[in-house]
Formats: sequence, structure tokens, C-alpha cells
Amino acid sequence: MRAEREKKKEKNRAVQELAGQEAVQAGQEQAGQEAVRAGQEQPGQEAVQAGQVQAGQEPGQSGQVQPAAEAPGQKTADGEKQPASRVEVKEPERTEQQKEAERQKGAEQPEKPVKYIIRTQDVVRSFPLPGKAGLGGEFQALKGISLEIPEQSLTILRGRSGSGKTTLLNILSALDKPTSGRVWLQNQDIARLSERKRVNLRRKKLGFVFQSVSLIPMMSAYENVEFVLRMAGVKKGRRERAEECLKLVGLGSRMNHMPQEMSGGEQQRVAIARAVAHRPSIIFADEPTGELDSATALSVVNLFKQLVAKEGVTIVMTTHDVSLMGAGDRVYELEDGRLI
Ligand SMILES: Nc1ncnc2c1ncn2[C@@H]1O[C@H](COP(=O)(O)OP(=O)(O)OP(=O)(O)O)[C@@H](O)[C@H]1O
Ligand SMILES: [Mg+2]
Repeated sequence: MRAEREKKKEKNRAVQELAGQEAVQAGQEQAGQEAVRAGQEQPGQEAVQAGQVQAGQEPGQSGQVQPAAEAPGQKTADGEKQPASRVEVKEPERTEQQKEAERQKGAEQPEKPVKYIIRTQDVVRSFPLPGKAGLGGEFQALKGISLEIPEQSLTILRGRSGSGKTTLLNILSALDKPTSGRVWLQNQDIARLSERKRVNLRRKKLGFVFQSVSLIPMMSAYENVEFVLRMAGVKKGRRERAEECLKLVGLGSRMNHMPQEMSGGEQQRVAIARAVAHRPSIIFADEPTGELDSATALSVVNLFKQLVAKEGVTIVMTTHDVSLMGAGDRVYELEDGRLI
């Protein structure tokens, strides 16, 4: 009888140990994978997906233990079910040393993990020199650009006229392809997508704002915004969303105005409402403040910041205006096709 009790105890201990080990392993594997991902500074493999690469770990993921319900080892080898309390594994067994190492690791974590929605590697864009097409003469507008654009940020590309801002923005937004180099947008290598796929991507996931406001002149502010929702294939709730976006940009009372009845700054706001309406992951704005006075330009940039905060969108804008640089969460400066 006593021997049998001892045997049963032994079995329980073995089960608990097994459950503990597996949970620790699961935690370590998870932590290991995250660490590998965190350490992947350089893209270059298909497997590295821009949207997934993290500079830090997701909070609480490191050393994560399987919940008790999913913990292996609920049954003994002979199938005998153990009382839940005996096999429930909330914390794997860790030595004091391990705990201290984890505490230190935790202290090193950035408070908010940074995810990158876009990453580029050595992007080069060459154009044939005028009159030398076919003769091998070419001009490099971009000379090896490697950058990262954090998700849900306002990123500014700044540089003088001719430095390559528009050329770079066109490549980031799948309007153009690099001559060489890689561009990951979320999990796609967009430098290699077919034209049809790039059109689809732009329509569904991206939004655009240009320097010269390109509203459809015979459509009201509301109709301009609603139209882009239709183009993106949105079936339901177009009216509500169009109205919501116009309110978001402070034009709730101008919905039925025609473009020519609005100021340049107001028209740009309609263009911004239109760019954000279909909930793109990212909005590209090429010199959106180029034709606005400095106060209106600042209000547009502040509006971008609000959109980042309220809509969770990422915005990449170009400007040559030094006074707007402070508004960016991240600023890249271009000079003669290089980042400086
Ligand atoms: N399609 C093209 N063919 C030939 N050269 C081009 C082409 N597009 C751009 N370039 C050249 O590449 C360089 C960068 O042009 P880009 O339009 O990117 O500059 P930018 O920084 O946007 O300038 P801006 O502030 O004036 O808009 C310029 O020297 C330009 O002449
Ligand atoms: Mg430009």
C-alpha cells in the first residue's frame, strides 16, 4: 500500500517536472525567436518581413509560459488524469540566476516596441541621361538608400530640390521600381511585384496626397471622398466614413462645397480626408505643404500627426521646408541621392 503511494507520488513528480520543462522550453523558444527577430537588423531574406521585424520584443512575450490549459503533461503516461492543481504550470522552475538575467533583460527593453512598416536596402534608381539613352549613359537619382519607416509614425523625407525625395517616395509607394535594391512594405517585396499587383496594392492599402491638390472639380468635398471609397471596393458605410473623415480634417461644415469654393488649405484637407478614408496602412504625401503659407503648412502637418494618433496610419511626407522637420517622428535627409 505504502509502496503504491510512493510510486504514485513519484509519477506525479515526474509529470510535474515534464510539464515544467516543456513550459520552460516553450518560453525559451518563444524568447529565442523574438530575440532572433529583434536582432535582424539587415533584411535580405525573403523570410524577414518588414512589418514583422521588431527592434524590441513584444511586452510580456519573452519567456512566456504556456497557459495551464495548454500545458502539456496533463495526463500521466498511463492516461490517468491528474487533478488540475497538480499539473497546472503557471511559472516554470527557474533558478535565481535565470530570474536575475530575465530581470536585467527586461530592464533593457525599450518601452514601446518599434515595428517597421517599410524597410529598404541599397535602393538605387538610375535614369538614362538625355540624349544618351541606349548608349549606357545614366544618372543615379538614388545612390543606395537603406532606411526603415516605423509603423504609426510621421516620417519626413527632407532635402533640397533635386535631392531625390520624389524619386524615393515613388519607389516606397510602389509607383516606381528601383533599378536595384529591395523594398519591403509590410510583408511584401514590392520591388518585385507585377504592375497589376502594385496597382491593387496602391488602391487598397495606400493613400496619396500631392502638392497640387488633385480633387475632382465637378464633385463636392463629400463626393470626392466617397468616390475613393468606391474605388477601393468599400461596399458598406461609405457615407458614414466619408463624413467621419471630413469631420476629422475639420471640414464637417463644408461637405457639400465644391473644390473651387474652398481655399487651397481647405482643398488640401479634403485631399487628406480622401487619402485616409479607405483606411490605408500608409499615406504618402509629396510636398503636401508646398503650395501653402507657413501657418497653413503647419496645420496640415499637425493634422497628419492627429491622423497617426487617431487612425493609427503611417504617414511619409517629403518637404524642403526645414521648419517642419521638428514635427516628424523620424526625419531622413537626402542630398544628391544619398541619406545624410
Ligand atoms: N524620369 C526622370 N528621368 C531623368 N531624370 C529624372 C527623372 N526623375 C527625376 N530625375 C532626376 O533625379 C533627380 C531627383 O529628382 P526628384 O524629383 O526626386 O527630386 P526632388 O528632391 O523631389 O526635388 P523637388 O524638391 O524639386 O521636387 C533630379 O536631378 C531629377 O532631374
Ligand atoms: Mg519632388
